[in-house]
Amino acid sequence: MDAVEITRRFETTAANTFKLSVHPPLFVKGEGAFLFTADGTPYLDLVGGSATSLLGHGHEGQKKAISKALDSGILHTGTRLPSPFRAEFYEALAKILPAHLTRIHLANSGAEAIETAIKVAMKKTKRRRIIAFSGGYHGRTLGALAITHSENLRHGYEPWSSPWVEFAPYAKIDHEAGISLAKLENRLKSKKFAAIVVEAIQGVSGVLGPSIKFLQGLEKLAKTYETLVILDEIWNGFGRSGEWFAFEKADLEPDLVTMGKGLSASLPLSAVAGREEILTSWTPGSHTSTFQGNPLSVAAAKATVETLVKEKLIVRAREVIEPLMKSALVGLKSRVIGAQAAIDMGSNSSSVELQNKAMDLQILVYGGGQNGDCVMLLPPLNIAEDVLENAILQLRKIM
Ligand SMILES: Cc1ncc(COP(=O)(O)O)c(C=O)c1O
Repeated sequence: MDAVEITRRFETTAANTFKLSVHPPLFVKGEGAFLFTADGTPYLDLVGGSATSLLGHGHEGQKKAISKALDSGILHTGTRLPSPFRAEFYEALAKILPAHLTRIHLANSGAEAIETAIKVAMKKTKRRRIIAFSGGYHGRTLGALAITHSENLRHGYEPWSSPWVEFAPYAKIDHEAGISLAKLENRLKSKKFAAIVVEAIQGVSGVLGPSIKFLQGLEKLAKTYETLVILDEIWNGFGRSGEWFAFEKADLEPDLVTMGKGLSASLPLSAVAGREEILTSWTPGSHTSTFQGNPLSVAAAKATVETLVKEKLIVRAREVIEPLMKSALVGLKSRVIGAQAAIDMGSNSSSVELQNKAMDLQILVYGGGQNGDCVMLLPPLNIAEDVLENAILQLRKIM
């Protein structure tokens, strides 16, 4: 059996591997924006490890940093010991975090960061309820799933998903802000909530938002009702939105910020950054995870943060990639913010069809949207302009 067949034989059917195609390509090499099969066929990768690979594949700085950690011979020391790699990473991350976020809690996946933020919010406020929003996506573990809006995703796991969560309407544009905020305030008035969890831009749901009016109003209401704001930046953080964090577009000062994906842009790592008094409110050992702060992952993340600064890639996402994608997609029903584009295809089946047709053209594109009805383009922030432009031209021909 070859690798694809072995995978088909053993892998849980809950994984995505065969969701799109019965015969997905098998890649053996990655370089920049491209992945290569064993016979050297290049595929342009506009999926980037589910919006993770901000620096593309095989980035030299990242490889060097991971090799250095590897050469130390220490692949992990568990949660009870400090590590020089972790310390260096904390310093690098602290430099780019807003000044009020002074503590960091590391984890391994986005969903785990969400769980952590929810737990600490409950602990700190001594309240149990959480407000999340229509259209929001926060992951698949039970806690993260409970605040993810899609009923399709939550179906089958009741009643775990419901007792402590209430959903309020998300405002995608300023015009919707008034009514959304009124409904949010009604909920805040009716009960005491530990936190409001929100994405400044709903990324995988189809690049929706941001409504500055909604986000600023939400922050004000949270203050009034002494409820914490958890800003989910797992998708948008580290340049995907054209800023370090999408909430900067609305000048917010969230109490807790969850990050993942582009944080390391490669190896599994996520984090919650928070106010001093929140992330010091729990006792040592009260929330840990075996692989927390793995040396290879944090070394990769430090290199990512430093590369984003050195190569000015956040500005590039905003000033080069965003206008390029906007102009290349003109006339299509699409939304572009930073290095993310969502094209409305009208239905889930049309999106899947286009993803497959694009694969025939050796271009990998992602599926997104609240009902899976969007095709998404998620280029690395350092992609060559002509490569991206040409790919969109080719995609337009099959739409
Ligand atoms: C906004 C947001 N939050 C949380 C998650 C969950 O992250 P993970 O898949 O790493 O658990 C995602 C994943 O797409 C996301 O987009």
